[in-house]
Amino acid sequence: MLRTHHCGDLRHENIGEKVTLSGWVQKTRDLGGMTFVDLRDRYGITQLAFNIDTNTELCLQARKLSREYVIQVRGKVIERSSKNKKIPTGDIEIEVQKLNVLNSSKTPPFTIEDQTDGGDDLRMQYRYLDIRRNPVRENLILRHQLSTETRKYLDSQDFIEVETPYLIKSTPEGARDFIVPSRMNEGQFYALPQSPQTFKQLLMVGGIDKYYQIVKCFRDEDLRADRQPEFTQIDCEMSFTEQEDILNMFEGLTRHLLKKIKGVELDSFPRMTYEDAIRLYGSDKPDLRFEMIFFEMNEVTQQNNFMVFDSAELVVGICAKDCAEWSRKKLDALTDYVKRPQIGAKGLIYCKYNADGTFKSSVDKFFSQDDLAKWAKQMNAEPGDLMFLLSGETDKVRKQMNELRLQVAEQLGLRKSNEFAPLWVIDFPLLEWDEETERYHAMHHPFTSPKPEDIYKLENSPGEVRANAYDLVINGTELGGGSIRIHDKELQQLMFQHLGFTEDEAKDQFGFLMNAFEYGAPPHGGIAFGFDRLCSLFGGQESIRDFIAFPKNNSGRDVMIDAPSKIDNAQLEELNIKLK
Ligand code: AMO
Repeated sequence: MLRTHHCGDLRHENIGEKVTLSGWVQKTRDLGGMTFVDLRDRYGITQLAFNIDTNTELCLQARKLSREYVIQVRGKVIERSSKNKKIPTGDIEIEVQKLNVLNSSKTPPFTIEDQTDGGDDLRMQYRYLDIRRNPVRENLILRHQLSTETRKYLDSQDFIEVETPYLIKSTPEGARDFIVPSRMNEGQFYALPQSPQTFKQLLMVGGIDKYYQIVKCFRDEDLRADRQPEFTQIDCEMSFTEQEDILNMFEGLTRHLLKKIKGVELDSFPRMTYEDAIRLYGSDKPDLRFEMIFFEMNEVTQQNNFMVFDSAELVVGICAKDCAEWSRKKLDALTDYVKRPQIGAKGLIYCKYNADGTFKSSVDKFFSQDDLAKWAKQMNAEPGDLMFLLSGETDKVRKQMNELRLQVAEQLGLRKSNEFAPLWVIDFPLLEWDEETERYHAMHHPFTSPKPEDIYKLENSPGEVRANAYDLVINGTELGGGSIRIHDKELQQLMFQHLGFTEDEAKDQFGFLMNAFEYGAPPHGGIAFGFDRLCSLFGGQESIRDFIAFPKNNSGRDVMIDAPSKIDNAQLEELNIKLK
């Protein structure tokens, strides 16, 4: 047996026992008469003690150990003379009687500590060493717990996990496909799935009724902190179901996971229409951990000969509670923040509602105390509050105000990672206008059902048609999205028509689905959660990378295995691919 216990197991009550431990050398300390070694494995750290007087040879052997050597020791558990309250095994140490070096190690390129000295690139290149560090390992364990609890919940609700293929035909989810050449079918290509969307719908036609899969998806899109080219979804679909059933089922999953893993019992699980989300928060994924809603200010700000407001389509404001004392420096920094090209505001107007009831604004030249009192009334501001206003074209100014709202909340410490504010955003528009191609695109995907009461608008005002589509948003992150699907061939054809597909194009791309719909497709709908995002949310971090064992960097590269890479000419020839 290479070990009788793990390095996190032993306590005061084990004193006197003979044990065998195996693990990695975290560090060695040579104090002359005594040499101490911290031995680490997945479960913790145990101190090993070597005494030069009682066992000279063994102690000399221990002094030669370096960081990350793999060793096995046999010895007796004894009480430590100086206890370490910071670790669970801190009451004891092992008086080593036998030391066996199982493997040596080169000096690692960074320290295997919670706070490492390794930069991002180095950590990714030696990811297997990075995974030895507690924070990364804990993230992977959290991921495992989340997938286990997800399976338990879905299993209890009669879902069955079905695998769908990875080598498929292109799916229309809006991003670019990763393409795989086919050797046996010259000149033809598979695409890796952007999601199993069409397959899960076919499973509903197949009578599976409640399907799920924790599944890899592939999208060739620009990367950000919350996006990877290959990522994982909890993908689900249900038959004989309406939107309400799906929202309740997956509210249940979210509650289950928060309770089991974070010990959090949610009170409310609100719903908000897309229209309200945009109007009140300037975003389809509002962070509801704090309020700070938007107030439309046109009525109380225009016609005061202040051109910036008078010429604006929308003047919008937020009220930061108890911030009237903010310094000029802080306000200037916020102004610079919203003027950054990524946000693009022309300027930021503020008004302090002082504790004594007077107002001090950045536009005092144009607005009297009475005018400013009207602003305060409109925003329900109270003495001690600080009002911010932005103006311009409606869509743009809402986006800018959303960024400002988040930034102010950040500065006020309102975006706490241990608080969870979920929200269903419902009634998304069915279609969205694409400036580049000058035509409508499906906002979710082409199989999403319009609201039956809006179908008549498809002809003349397609932009106003609402969909039976919903997103799950938690703390301002889009965690999942789904819809009720079209299960009727005629309606699906009509949708393809409105999306600009000719009959032949629709047949070529989705003929298999349309055919299936001719054989009794049940009403169905579903959702997919971004599993990596769920992990990072539960782990209280922005980036999904540290919740993925072997992630890609921002250029889509795996720097450890050096992929993507060239392939040799023989392989290219076999695939009949000629490089320019
Ligand atoms: P959607 O495209 O909204 O829907 O994706 C579902 C969820 O997947 C996550 N996600 C990502 N996570 C990491 N990296 C990415 N590149 C990435 N792209 C998406 C998000 C998102 O909410 N087939 C539909 C679902 C359905 O209709 O049932 C779909 O894929 O958290």
